[in-house]
Amino acid sequence: KTTQKPRVLISDKMDPNAARIFEERGCDVDVITGESPEELVARIGDYHGLAIRSSTTVTPEILDAATNLKVIGRAGIGVDNVDIPYASGKGVVVMNTPFGNSITTAEHAIALIMALARQIPQANTRTQAGEWPKSAFMGVEVTGKTLGLIGAGNIGSIVASRALGLKMKVIAFDPFLTKDRAVEVGIEKVTLDDLLARADFITLHTPLTDETRNILSREALAKTKPGVRIVNCARGGLIDEAALKDALESGHVAGAALDVFAQEPAKDNPLFGAPNFICTPHLGASTNEAQVNVALQVAEQMADYLVNGGVTNA
Ligand code: MLT
Repeated sequence: KTTQKPRVLISDKMDPNAARIFEERGCDVDVITGESPEELVARIGDYHGLAIRSSTTVTPEILDAATNLKVIGRAGIGVDNVDIPYASGKGVVVMNTPFGNSITTAEHAIALIMALARQIPQANTRTQAGEWPKSAFMGVEVTGKTLGLIGAGNIGSIVASRALGLKMKVIAFDPFLTKDRAVEVGIEKVTLDDLLARADFITLHTPLTDETRNILSREALAKTKPGVRIVNCARGGLIDEAALKDALESGHVAGAALDVFAQEPAKDNPLFGAPNFICTPHLGASTNEAQVNVALQVAEQMADYLVNGGVTNA
């Protein structure tokens, strides 16, 4: 008698190592990406596991149709595209890969800090347009400047270690950061108001929750140091975009770099075209290394659960 192998659907573009690991660990796997929600509803009933990145949104309609589903695995950190309470109510375990892309995302934050300090994207565009605008761009050094981290967990503490290497002073607002951990990382734990008043650069590294939504509100932005530069490659919704636009226009905020937006894909965001505003299309996790890491990790964890009942990062 042959026992049926667990069946896994990979519904978002993912490094091919994920499919290989599922097969090696005894699962049947289909890679079918770019389907509409209706197509996924029609298909999902056949599967025990669903592996996603950020394009698939797992709604109650999909979960109602997923009569055999045991586990959803997110190859990445944020699970905001999964209705977790509804999945849990149906007994479906939701897993993420909290470490695989942390270094990569931290490096993107550092890249954006440097890009803001020297206006690299704007200088690139105008140089390639034949302008040679040497006197149009006067940058700032980061050495000796204060970097304020909002969130000093996995990613924030890697940003801190890199920024310390760049000779910045690092302060952090994070209610979960212990004094001992702050000392270990080499950063000063401060209140949010203290951070807003002191930071020359602010970078956000928190999930989007009821506590963090709009943490850089209009009121908070008004408390920042004049000339502050702001980076967000965590989640859209942490910053009031309309207030940021006003602060860039008034010059109170000297520059902002966003990788994430309240509405994604961001196709006509109000910040587009604001002075000293630069952005990337949610590329924080997009390196070869990180995508291999998260694909391997999600497939290992899901296969372990489907084949042996093991639970990691759920
Ligand atoms: C994450 O939460 O890990 C990132 O947003 C991932 C991604 O863009 O795939």
